[in-house]
Amino acid sequence: MLKALFRTKPVIDESEGSGLKRCLSAFDLTLLGIGAIIGTGIFVLTGIAAANQAGPAVVLSFVISGLACAFAALAYAELAASVGGCGSAYGYSYVAFGEVVAWMIGWILLLEYSVSVAAVANGWSGYFNNALTAMGMGLPDVLTKSPALGGIINLPAASIILILMGLLIIGVRQSAQLNTAMVFVKVLTIIVFVSIAAFNVEPMNWHPFMPYGWFNTLPDGSTTGVLAGASLVFFAYVGFDAVSTAAEEAQNPQRDLPTGILASLAFCTVIYIIVSGLLTGIVPYTQLNVSSPVAHALQLLGYNWASALVATGVIAGLTTVMLVLYYALTRIILSMARDGLVSPFLSKVDDTRKTPVRVIVITGLIMAMAAGFFPLGTLAELVNIGTLAAFVLVCLGVIVLRIRQPDLPRPFKNPFGFLLPILGMISCAGLMAFLPAQTWLRFTVWLTIGVIVYFTYSIRHSKLAK
Ligand code: ALA
Repeated sequence: MLKALFRTKPVIDESEGSGLKRCLSAFDLTLLGIGAIIGTGIFVLTGIAAANQAGPAVVLSFVISGLACAFAALAYAELAASVGGCGSAYGYSYVAFGEVVAWMIGWILLLEYSVSVAAVANGWSGYFNNALTAMGMGLPDVLTKSPALGGIINLPAASIILILMGLLIIGVRQSAQLNTAMVFVKVLTIIVFVSIAAFNVEPMNWHPFMPYGWFNTLPDGSTTGVLAGASLVFFAYVGFDAVSTAAEEAQNPQRDLPTGILASLAFCTVIYIIVSGLLTGIVPYTQLNVSSPVAHALQLLGYNWASALVATGVIAGLTTVMLVLYYALTRIILSMARDGLVSPFLSKVDDTRKTPVRVIVITGLIMAMAAGFFPLGTLAELVNIGTLAAFVLVCLGVIVLRIRQPDLPRPFKNPFGFLLPILGMISCAGLMAFLPAQTWLRFTVWLTIGVIVYFTYSIRHSKLAK
């Protein structure tokens, strides 16, 4: 039994055909990363974190969580180049730790990606309906709110997921092209914001710089301070790991995946630091507790046209986040199905389109229902805890694999021995510790369900066992 739990997979041979189409270049992968990364985090959470948790020091929150992500990204880059496979952290864990840890990581990634897509769809719906309202075509409340909030269905949220489902079925190349166009729009809106904000900074707004200190737990269990802010704005970085799920569709995965992962993260980190610094410089942080702080700040400065443009950028930005995370979700499930840990029915790749149509349709329908019928706006912290847990294990995976398979070819290798993965584990585990108790409870429930599924189904159907 114990042996079964820790059976490991051999390193993947990237030259083996997988049925998927190798069509993504390093540039596509970088844009895929930027597509998944820039979204709710910078356009929405920055304001909330500044107003309630960190004040102008939210810029430090971004630096701290960016640093934790950089260590994790380096670990991902090493494993993507040496271990390979489209299973991302799941696949790496299967090789480094064995089946049971891999299963738990896969299970956590399912949570990360599916909850992100459904939660971001809720945010997207709000912006989309605002835009319709501005054009005099706003939808009634019953069609934009879930039953718990007094409506019938959040129709825009469910619909956008179904539209992305269609796009992912059509093909990866087409999805990547749409992603590129939308990434361009969202980066352009950020450039517009930065250009305006840079000339409107009022240094007084940066005082007091750190009104809530480093870390505090309030009587109601919520947390404040720069570190609590860091564990919230971590959501803004979620998604660079999705690049690693594209291994089987990358033209040259061993070289291009590390590039895509590291370049997209570096680009977004710089943008986040600039945007959060400027945002708290142009208006007092106390006024940023709104659903669209970036657009709101521009409005306060009197730039209504720019505010409208930013709203367009947000709609495009959130669309790409959903698209790439949804894509990543399907590739993880595909990997798990091929390994027999979830039903092999899901492992089929369509012969003509070269996409895993079954997985795309099933997950799309489930997420559309979740986004349409449940209010999911507040689940960012649940995504964070899961992603951070995966990052800790990926960093540990680098160390374990270097010990267990010292001669494995490593086209990309972290310098300074074990130092960077160790710093990655400490910083990601630290950010987990700053999340509220409620989030830990929900996460534990998810893990428990995962353990039950593994022992009732996966352990007996595992391909490796056979
Ligand atoms: N990083 C993504 C976002 O901020 C998930 O929306």
